[in-house]
Amino acid sequence: MVKIASEAQPGSDRGSACRVALVGFGTVGRAVAQILGEQRDGSLRLTHIFNRNVQRKKQDWVPREVIWTEDIDSVLNSDADILIELIGGLHPAEQMVRRALESGKSVVTANKQLIARCGPDLLKLAAIHGAHLEFGASVAGGVPVLPALRTGLCADRLHGIAGILNGTCNYILSRIENARVPFSEALEEAQAKGYAEADASEDLDGGDARAKLAILALAGLRARVTPESVRARTIRPVDAVDFDYAAELGCTIRQISRAELKGETLLAEVGPCLVAVDSPFGRVQRNLNLVLTSGQHGGDMAFLGAGAGGDPTAVAVVSDVMFLAEGLGRKKRESSGLVSTPDISCDFETAWCLRFFVRDQPGIVARLAEILAAHHLNIDSLLQKPGFEKSSLPFVITLEPCKDSELRPALQAMSGLDFALRPCLCLPILL
Ligand SMILES: NC(=O)c1ccc[n+]([C@@H]2O[C@H](COP(=O)([O-])OP(=O)(O)OC[C@H]3O[C@@H](n4cnc5c(N)ncnc54)[C@H](OP(=O)(O)O)[C@@H]3O)[C@@H](O)[C@H]2O)c1
Repeated sequence: MVKIASEAQPGSDRGSACRVALVGFGTVGRAVAQILGEQRDGSLRLTHIFNRNVQRKKQDWVPREVIWTEDIDSVLNSDADILIELIGGLHPAEQMVRRALESGKSVVTANKQLIARCGPDLLKLAAIHGAHLEFGASVAGGVPVLPALRTGLCADRLHGIAGILNGTCNYILSRIENARVPFSEALEEAQAKGYAEADASEDLDGGDARAKLAILALAGLRARVTPESVRARTIRPVDAVDFDYAAELGCTIRQISRAELKGETLLAEVGPCLVAVDSPFGRVQRNLNLVLTSGQHGGDMAFLGAGAGGDPTAVAVVSDVMFLAEGLGRKKRESSGLVSTPDISCDFETAWCLRFFVRDQPGIVARLAEILAAHHLNIDSLLQKPGFEKSSLPFVITLEPCKDSELRPALQAMSGLDFALRPCLCLPILL
């Protein structure tokens, strides 16, 4: 159990402070140490900083009594009450967290991969050993959406969560929107500014966002979801012309992660979508995150802010530590028995925007209309902006609402058409 001031033994040489060990002294770990150093009420005491090759990490602003170490056993065998895991990745983070929980230490982590894959098991392990696991920074960085789900919204029955959960994608898409630069240029800019890694596949192809969606589904919808079971569509084919057509429809494009409970099924998906330009999602610029929740009683709620960065993320981490240290985590809500394991489907029903790039020739629209009619899909509008070369002509067909599963066979039938220069880009319209 986490020791709190009122539980400390009088005269104990531990003192009344909650003892905190930091595992990982990188971008977030460093900011966490700084924020812990600013806590002046003596309720938290940093005892250890663990990192590989720790010598090069040492800082003279860290209190002298803190032990710098590259020996994880010395941390796990110490009398620290809380271990903060900030090395990231699955291995060796998972083993360290498991061992900490098994020894009765509570754990605070910002590690989305770990929680998305092992969250329910680790929560169970924590409960068995009378310890606690907090992961408020693992989704949306500094935006306190997970703490809100844990406390402010826990009385509601949430049925839907949707969000802009990946700042890299949002930076790129809002940059294309505002400057009409090609996708490749926006990506290079994001990499130059440090918003995207050299290999940005996890971000662009939706892997990062669906791990976060899995955590939100667990915390908010009490649904156990593996990230791999959530369909992720890449943002790579989205280009400047798509924003021109989106604007014609009063929309812009954002990578949206959404999960919705429908009876025993959880509809879940990540990918680029058309959203109204004046909607909450449409207004999110740069690398900010936004999460919207829908509850049976409380209706819709919105959480907006910095989804990444050392300082905002460290605030979320230290807030979790303070939550535990104050003893608020003792009456925990996680009971693995209450978590369901729903069927996962991406069969949302929405209107659709289909963008084609074709080599112009007579009969193209007739052929596409024929395929759509054969699959009982209704065209809502057809948009073709002037000024493009006939050798590479973009145009858009929007469809009236239908299910994803009703649309896929039609897209399959369109995939082999000889006039198509690129695969059809198919975007849900969320209005
Ligand atoms: N940065 C953000 O904005 C942000 C936002 C939300 C969540 N998070 C999450 O927070 C966690 C930390 O992120 P970060 O940005 O601080 O990462 P980071 O800058 O790469 O820091 C990780 C630290 O852990 C150390 N480390 C990594 N593997 C290790 C191992 N096997 N043994 C010992 N030390 C090891 C690294 O040492 P080296 O210096 O030797 O590599 C580094 O000091 C991750 O789970 C991340 O997903 C980060």
